[in-house]
Amino acid sequence: MAQTLDAEILSAAAALRAGALVILPTETVYGLAADAANPRAVAAVYEAKGRPSFNPLIAHVADLATARRIARFDDRAERLAQAFWPGPLTLVLPVADTAAVCDLARAGLDTVALRSPAHPLARRLLAAVGGPVVAPSANRSGRPSPTTFADALEETGAAAAAALDGGASAVGLESTVVALLDQARLLRPGAVTRAEIEAVIGPLAEAEADAKRSPGRLARHYAPQAPVRLEAETPGPGEAYLAFGAAPAGDRVWNLSPTGDLREAAANLFASLREADRTNPVGIAVAPIPHEGLGEAINDRLKRAAGFIG
Ligand code: TXA
Ligand code: MG
Repeated sequence: MAQTLDAEILSAAAALRAGALVILPTETVYGLAADAANPRAVAAVYEAKGRPSFNPLIAHVADLATARRIARFDDRAERLAQAFWPGPLTLVLPVADTAAVCDLARAGLDTVALRSPAHPLARRLLAAVGGPVVAPSANRSGRPSPTTFADALEETGAAAAAALDGGASAVGLESTVVALLDQARLLRPGAVTRAEIEAVIGPLAEAEADAKRSPGRLARHYAPQAPVRLEAETPGPGEAYLAFGAAPAGDRVWNLSPTGDLREAAANLFASLREADRTNPVGIAVAPIPHEGLGEAINDRLKRAAGFIG
């Protein structure tokens, strides 16, 4: 008999506390969750993802009060958390409690990445657990992030003791990562746009100067099997096509947004890359996507899929 949702959440929380892994729906992408304080559980996440262990993880918390016990919040951090939490923004801050988010989860850094997700199931699970939960995207390393329950199960479901079905991820792109150590820096463009952040704390410095603080930004981080060709006005022979805006429909055409809406395109991006890839095309051609607003994050992920960013 199917468990009620309350019972499912309680048993997922118990699994996390016992050191097991859980497939966690969030508004950005699905995560593979573990107790952030438990190095064995965190090691199991790295193992399930096949992820290089120098890549630090994001600790997810139920609320700002919990976050304040884990990291040192300055005025900028307070203002950003007030503006965007719960939601798709991750803050990298000086760590205050090195036991709550263990060294392995922080990859030995003296900083910690924190986010309070908005998805109602994530919020209920985090409230039931009480402490921070690391949750990298639930894909195996180097593959597109899962944005549906089925894709999350296919990627790392075998490693999880419990899995919560939260439906399709509403945002579809990972959270924006902002470091607030010296200057405020954009480490990963994402669902909250650069302009939205700058409206709250002023200009962001470029991330490149701080590359050592962002070890997770590997080339081909979001890559399908097929080679990806960008800024393509039309598909070539044998290519699948990710269109944007008015475009003819076709056998191997996925339209990210027929109306040219960046929010819709972000939500469809990873699932479309996966579906196109499953047809074993000679390549995946992608239409030009505007660079403003959410387009910065979409183009960042596409360049990684094409292998252009190191
Ligand atoms: O939307 C998301 O953020 C998803 C969902 C599941 O919440 N999670 C996610 O986690 O994308 P992950 O582990 O795939 O990405 C973590 C990013 C990496 O780029 C990593 O390098 C950066 O955050 N990061 C984590 N801790 C950091 C730290 N202490 N300093 C700098 N960057 C850090
Ligand atoms: Mg990821």
